[in-house]
Amino acid sequence: MARIIGGVATTHVPSIGKAIADKKYDDPYWKPFFSGFDYVHQWLAREKPDVAVFFYNDHGLNFFLDKLPTFAVGAAKEYRNEDEGWGIPVARPALGDQAFSWHLINALVADEFDITMCQEMLIDHAVTIPLELMWPGHWPVQIVPISINTVQHPLPSMARCLKLGRAVGRAIESYPQDLRVMVVGTGGLSHQLDGTRAGFINKEFDQLCLDKIVSEPDTLTRYSIHDMVSLAGAQGVEFLNWIAMRGALTGKVSQAHRNYHIPISNTAAATIVLANEAQAARKAA
Ligand code: DHB
Ligand code: FE
Repeated sequence: MARIIGGVATTHVPSIGKAIADKKYDDPYWKPFFSGFDYVHQWLAREKPDVAVFFYNDHGLNFFLDKLPTFAVGAAKEYRNEDEGWGIPVARPALGDQAFSWHLINALVADEFDITMCQEMLIDHAVTIPLELMWPGHWPVQIVPISINTVQHPLPSMARCLKLGRAVGRAIESYPQDLRVMVVGTGGLSHQLDGTRAGFINKEFDQLCLDKIVSEPDTLTRYSIHDMVSLAGAQGVEFLNWIAMRGALTGKVSQAHRNYHIPISNTAAATIVLANEAQAARKAA
């Protein structure tokens, strides 16, 4: 059976891609952020996932305001990158696991999540930057991208995204093949790119989210989308991807690693690794 080994969540600021291209790992601006990946690399080398399920938000590359699914799941053989022009290098395609994608799609619809299924799907910086941060130069995993609308209101609630994650977690665990699966949430933490609050960051709220997401994720569902916009910024709602990632961790969850650094571009940049220990099966009475 497939097993969920854990989750990683990280920001996906496009300028990280330019810093990688320019090898700025030791630059004083970048070092505190990039060094937060040393542990992630060790963890991935040890855990060796086969597949990464990505909760992310499309930024207008694949879906635009005319047609914007709340939740969309990829079922493609490969996912090409054609980013929308942040001056970052276009990345190599990521490979898909179509059989696993279709299993997740079937299980989600059976579980009353009426997602959009995508046999063709492009991926933007919200997938390629985290892939390149986790596996510099070579991506040894197949992916299943799950896009959550964080762009055009109405957005799904925190509670709904946590439930989506839980449904994905159940679906992963019902896959008969012995896959080692990790889940990824991208974006956040607090940031706002436009308007009079451009540059808005809320360290206190970010710390609260980082604390609660480990062992009390349900307490975060008290925040409405409008609360999230007000507390974390108009783009801070990308935290929906993080809460979905957390929902997919079905076992005993512990924080293996956390890095928080302000700012990277306009964003409070955070990276976490959550370990997922399978719950001991209940003994038969
Ligand atoms: C930035 C952050 C994002 O989440 C994004 O999608 C684009 C840009 C930024 O801080 O520059
Ligand atoms: Fe973003």
